Amino acid sequence: MATASKNPVPARVTFLDGRGEMPMVEITTAWSTAEIYLHGAHVTNFKKHDEAPILFLSQCSRFEANQPIRGGIPVIFPWFGAREGMTMHGFARIKAWEIKEIIPAPDGSVSMRFRLPNYPEAGAYPPFLAEYVVTVNEALTLELIVTNNSTEESLEFEECLHTYFAVEDVGAITVAGLKGHSYLDKVANFAKKTEMDQAIRIASEVDRIYLDASGTVEIHDAKLKRVIRVAKENSTSTVVWNPWIAKAQQMPDFGNEEYQKMVCVESGNVNVNKLTLAPGKTSTMKVTLNSHH
Ligand code: BG6
Repeated sequence: MATASKNPVPARVTFLDGRGEMPMVEITTAWSTAEIYLHGAHVTNFKKHDEAPILFLSQCSRFEANQPIRGGIPVIFPWFGAREGMTMHGFARIKAWEIKEIIPAPDGSVSMRFRLPNYPEAGAYPPFLAEYVVTVNEALTLELIVTNNSTEESLEFEECLHTYFAVEDVGAITVAGLKGHSYLDKVANFAKKTEMDQAIRIASEVDRIYLDASGTVEIHDAKLKRVIRVAKENSTSTVVWNPWIAKAQQMPDFGNEEYQKMVCVESGNVNVNKLTLAPGKTSTMKVTLNSHH
């Protein structure tokens, strides 16, 4: 990675009123700009100075308390998917997080550490600490750090960085890195299947949980002539999702045509890959997003 000293632009952290007057932080480094809402500790934008944004954000997204932002990187925790009588995909994405620390590094990177306050919804779990560190430089690095603060009970949870990537035309992309893995096909009532394709194409609704899949995934965007790399540590599930036409029309916070401009490649530990943390233990899931032409 090039160091910032070769570039005159100093790193800058700016606190702003974002959309819906929600507090937002803009981080600009020598290489890139990122925008993060305290609501959900939600990264809504990551853009290298000489490239198109790598994250998709819906033009119809809500920016409201207790509602998820549609696009960017929703932090899904402590459960993934639907739960009877509970909010979809956990409460972390719809709650305000606190900034705990801003760490400028000598190489020009900036890290921001968030902490999920102790909301009543967490009361159903043993006491835990959930922190999220976002590091901005040439790449975007995300670390979700969960500690079980109980001295007696295990902490069982799911987590997922539900990343929406921007693509020029979803029909012209391929997703690589999942061949040979089993997946649960949500479009086929969670049928268990095996991925046969090295280059997955999307031509209808896709909603798959790949299991025991910890390798790097790449999105090859033929029209933008760009490859996005999703590299991860301590994440054994990868979810690939595109709502396609009918589901797009049902979602109030998503444009009817926007399915053409995005694909979710989500890094997590969900379903049978859920985590169980012994008392006092910490788990860190780390995801690094980068792109090249
Ligand atoms: C994906 C799920 O991760 O998230 C899909 O696999 C779901 O089933 C999608 O539709 C979006 O969920 P939500 O709650 O943000 O609309």
